[in-house]
Amino acid sequence: PTKVLEDPYGRKVTGLRISITEKCNLACMYCHNEGADCCTCGPVGHEMSPELICGIVREAAKFGVRKVKFSGGEPLFRKDFEDILACLPPLKEVSATTNGILLEKRAKTLKAAGLDRVNVSLDSLVPEKYEAITGAPSGSLEKVIKGIDSAVEAGLTPVKLNMVLLKGVNDNEIDSMMDFIRPYKGKVILQLIELMDIDPELTKYMIDSKAFEKNLAERASEIRVRHLHHRKKYIIDGVEIEFVRPMDNSEFCAHCSRLRVTADGKFKPCLLVNDNLVDVRDAKSPEEIEKLLKLAVSRRKPYCNSVSVLK
Ligand code: GTP
Ligand code: 5AD
Repeated sequence: PTKVLEDPYGRKVTGLRISITEKCNLACMYCHNEGADCCTCGPVGHEMSPELICGIVREAAKFGVRKVKFSGGEPLFRKDFEDILACLPPLKEVSATTNGILLEKRAKTLKAAGLDRVNVSLDSLVPEKYEAITGAPSGSLEKVIKGIDSAVEAGLTPVKLNMVLLKGVNDNEIDSMMDFIRPYKGKVILQLIELMDIDPELTKYMIDSKAFEKNLAERASEIRVRHLHHRKKYIIDGVEIEFVRPMDNSEFCAHCSRLRVTADGKFKPCLLVNDNLVDVRDAKSPEEIEKLLKLAVSRRKPYCNSVSVLK
C-alpha cells in the first residue's frame, strides 16, 4: 500500500501484537503479563469482541500491517479464537504465542480458521523444573509436548519453542532442548530469550547474553540474520536457534515494528511503557479506528536509550 504507519523515529509499523485475554492457567516466575499491570486485573467481560479485533486489523492492514501476533494471558482461553481468526483480512502471517497446555485439541481447528503458526513457551524438559518455573500442576509438561506434536501435525509450522534463559535454573538444558527438537526435522525452532528483569528479584537469574551469544556463534555451522527484527539465527547440529534480546534497546527497540493492543482494547505503543495508551474500545466506525491508530503510532517512542541510535 502507498499509505504507511511511521512513528516520529522513522520506525514503520508492519505488525500488530494483540492480547486477546489476560486470563492464564500458569503463573510463570518471570512473567511480564505482556505489559498489563497485573494478570487478572482486567474487568471481567471486558475483552474485545471478534468484531472489534477484526475491525482494528482491517484498518491496520490498509496501512501496510501484514503480520499479526495473538498473545494473552493465554490466548487459547478464548473459546472464540477461531471466530477471531476467521474474520481477519488477508495477511502475510498470523501467529500466536501460547503456553501449549490447551493446544492439543485446538491445533487443527486453529489452522483451519487461518492461524499460520505458533510459538510455544517451554522453559524446561524436566517436569519438576517446568512446574517450579511455571506454577503448573504435575502432568502439564506432557500436555505441552502433546500440544507441540499436534501443532506440527496440523501444520502450524515452524513451531517456535520459547525458552527464557534463567541462570542456574535452565541454562544447562540447551543441549537437551536441541536433542528434543532435532527429530522434528526443521519444523520446530528453538527461540532462546534473554530474561527481562522486570522485577529486581529476577536480576539474579540474568545470564551473560554477550558471552552466551559468542558461544552460540562458535558452535554454529551457519549464522543468518533475520533482517526485519535484527535477530540472529544460528544453525547448530542441524537445529535452528534464534536468540532474542529484548533488553538490547539499540537493536530490539530501534527496529521494533509492532504496535500492541491490550486485551481490553487499547493501543499500547510499547510493552514497557504504560502512560501513552490509546483507547479504541468505543470506536464507532472504521474512520475512528484509523484516527486512533494514527494517534497511537505518533506516540510510539523507543524504550530507554535507543533514541540516540535512531536520531
Ligand atoms: P515471532 O518471532 O515473529 O514469532 O515473534 P516473537 O518471537 O517476537 O514473539 P514472542 O511472543 O514469542 O516473543 C518473544 C520475546 O520477545 C518475548 O520474550 C517477549 O518478551 C519479547 N517481546 C515481545 N514484544 C516486546 C516488546 O514490545 N518489547 C520488548 N522489549 N520485548 C518484547
Ligand atoms: N522476559 C523474557 N521473556 C518473557 N516472556 C514472558 N515474560 C518474560 C520476561 N520477563 C516470554 C514468554 C512468552 C513470551 C510471550 O514472552 O516466554 O513465550
